[in-house]
Amino acid sequence: MIALFDRLARPLLRTLDPETAHALALHALKFAPLPQPPPDDEKLRVQAFGLTFPNPVGLAAGFDKNAEVTDALLRLGFGFAEAGGVTPKPQPGNPRPRLFRLDADEGVINRFGFNSDGLEAVKRRLAARAGAPGIVGINIGANKDTTDRAVDYVACIAALAPHVDFLTVNVSSPNTPGLRDLQQASALDDLLARVIEARERAAIGGKPKPLLLKIAPDLTLADLDDVVGIARRHRIDGMIVGNTTVSRPNLSETAKAKEQGGLSGRPLFALSTRMLAETYVRAEGAFPLIGAGGVDSGAAAFTKIKAGASLIQLYSGLIFRGVGLIGAIKKDLLDFLRIGRLDTLADAVGRDAAAVTAEAWPA
Ligand SMILES: Cc1cc2nc3c(=O)[nH]c(=O)nc-3n(C[C@H](O)[C@H](O)[C@H](O)COP(=O)(O)O)c2cc1C
Repeated sequence: MIALFDRLARPLLRTLDPETAHALALHALKFAPLPQPPPDDEKLRVQAFGLTFPNPVGLAAGFDKNAEVTDALLRLGFGFAEAGGVTPKPQPGNPRPRLFRLDADEGVINRFGFNSDGLEAVKRRLAARAGAPGIVGINIGANKDTTDRAVDYVACIAALAPHVDFLTVNVSSPNTPGLRDLQQASALDDLLARVIEARERAAIGGKPKPLLLKIAPDLTLADLDDVVGIARRHRIDGMIVGNTTVSRPNLSETAKAKEQGGLSGRPLFALSTRMLAETYVRAEGAFPLIGAGGVDSGAAAFTKIKAGASLIQLYSGLIFRGVGLIGAIKKDLLDFLRIGRLDTLADAVGRDAAAVTAEAWPA
C-alpha cells in the first residue's frame, strides 16, 4: 500500500500547488485502508520522557495540524506523531499562497501562521481516539491577537493534556509576529513556570504529561545558553531542536528563496544538526532531545542521533521522498547498529556532539 501510494500519488501531488497537494494527501490518509504495520525490531526501541517509543522516527508538527489523520500516520510506521500546532481559538492563518516547494533544493518555505481549527475541535478528535495504540503528542501555540501568550499555552495544556502522551510548547514558529521573543530569558522563565504549573494541575490524580520545548535553529549560542539553563532549572522533560529557519543557506531556487517564512527540508539539515549538538553539550544529559530539520535518509537520521538526538522527527522529507522514507530510515538504522556493533540506538546518542560543535559554523 505504501509503495503503491508513493508510485501513483506522489507524481500527481508534485504537479499541484503545494497546499492543494497537502489537502489531498490528508484526504487520502483519511480514507486509505491502512493495515497496522508489522512490529518494529526491538533494537529500534527508545525510552525517553518516561515513554517507550517502538522506533525513533516521528512525524514533526505541522502536517496534521488539526489531528485529523493521526492514527493513519502511525499506521505508516512512525514511532510517534505530533499533531498541531493548535491555537486556543480557531484562526485562518496567513493568506495564500503560504507554502512553497523549492524542488531543486529539496526545501520548503511556509508562512502558514498557525491556521488552526482551534482547541475544541482538536480536543474532540484526540478524545475520540482514546485507547488507540501509538504515541501522540500535541504542538501548542498562541493566537495571533492574544495579549498574554502564556495564557494561550496554559489553556491548550489544560484542555489537551488528558488526551495526549506529550505536549510541545512551540515558541519558535517564525510566522506569528513576536512569538519567538518568548525564547528570551525573562519571558521564557515566566512562560515555563506557568506551563509547568498548568500541566501539574491537569494531572490531578494521574501522572503529569511530558512537556517539551521546541526552539528555533536561529538562536545565538548566547541565547541557547540561557534557554537550556532555564529549561534545566524548570526541569522540563525534553527539547525539540528545532523549528524552521528564517535564514536562507545556499539555495539555488533564488526566486522562491525570497518568500517570507520558515525554511525546512534538506537546506536546514546542517544548521539544525549543529544547533542540536550545541544543545546536547549544554543539556549534559538533563533531558533527551528530539532532532528535526532535513532528515531525508537513514544516514541523516543517524547523524542526528550521533549529534545528540534520542528521537528524530521529519516532515519535508515526506514531500520529496514519500512515505517509503519511514521504513527506509528504520532499515538503515538497523544496518548502522549492526555495522557499529551497537546493541541499541541509545549507545550512539551524542557520540559525535562534541566533535560537531568544534566544526566550522555551517554556511
Ligand atoms: C508546512 C509546515 C508547517 C509547519 N507547522 C508547524 C507547526 O505548526 N508547529 C511547529 O512547531 N512546527 C511546524 N513546522 C516545523 C516542522 O515541525 C519541523 O520542525 C521543520 O519543518 C523541520 O523539519 P523538516 O526539515 O523535516 O521539515 C512546520 C513545517 C512545515 C514544512
